[in-house]
Amino acid sequence: MKKLLLPLALMVTVATAGEQFAMSDADRAMYKEMLENNPADIFVEEGGELFEELGDEKALAKFLGVSEKELPKYIAGFPRYIKKLGNVVGIDQVLQAMQVEQGKEKYKLKSGKMFSMLAYVKSLANDEQFTIDTKADEHIKASYDLGKKTFETARGGRGLSCLSCHSADIVGQVLRTQPLPDLGKAGAGATWPAYRMTKSSLRTLQRRFQGCMKNALLKVIPIGSKEMVGLEVYISTLAQEAKQPIAIPGLKR
Ligand code: HEC
Repeated sequence: MKKLLLPLALMVTVATAGEQFAMSDADRAMYKEMLENNPADIFVEEGGELFEELGDEKALAKFLGVSEKELPKYIAGFPRYIKKLGNVVGIDQVLQAMQVEQGKEKYKLKSGKMFSMLAYVKSLANDEQFTIDTKADEHIKASYDLGKKTFETARGGRGLSCLSCHSADIVGQVLRTQPLPDLGKAGAGATWPAYRMTKSSLRTLQRRFQGCMKNALLKVIPIGSKEMVGLEVYISTLAQEAKQPIAIPGLKR
């Protein structure tokens, strides 16, 4: 194994073919089994029940001003600018706004109930390609730009950015036994919410971003902030360019 020094002075081991599996044989067997029977299914089901209390697809379509038939393709365009909320928002923020409108208890964006409901609603767009149009209006364009900038800007004690570990020239290399994924080809935007085996729970894309922030000692940005929504826009467009269809819930190491 060769060692190579990153510009950021992180030690990365370059693995040769066959060495780059991050999982043990036992873990890989478990992964295969879980693929057939994703433990997240039960959370998605729970999310469906919570969504029913909000009035289901009918109420969501009405809130968004689209027909129920258009709903899957429309969901595949999130995060997007919603005029009545005055912001580019994720599906979770739309669900929160519906709760407020109906005078119901508002779930926190980082709560398990919201993760479950978000997973269910995003799964309505399963098998669809993303339909994000970053040129649709100035708001989504600004959100994309902010997300890309957040991805590329070095922060924190070690001077790392997301790009330090997720740029094209470093993808596939191995960092502390974990191969660095190509976020486009891995369809990251299209496969979260996912069951995360190492955390034994359902996690969302923005929650996953926070995981990387923690690991790399970048200050953790709150879920639902402009930066986080922008990051979600940016990462989702990578899946869109790589033509990765939406497939919720994902299953991750
Ligand atoms: C120090 C290196 C490093 C930095 C910096 C880093 N990541 Fe990661 N990231 C990884 C590794 C390694 C994995 C795969 C881990 C695994 O398989 O559990 C990963 C996985 C991910 C995933 C999940 C990919 C999938 O398969 O769905 C996303 C999304 C992600 N990173 C986004 C980010 C974002 C956004 C940032 C910046 C805030 C960031 N990462 C910063 C190393 C890094």
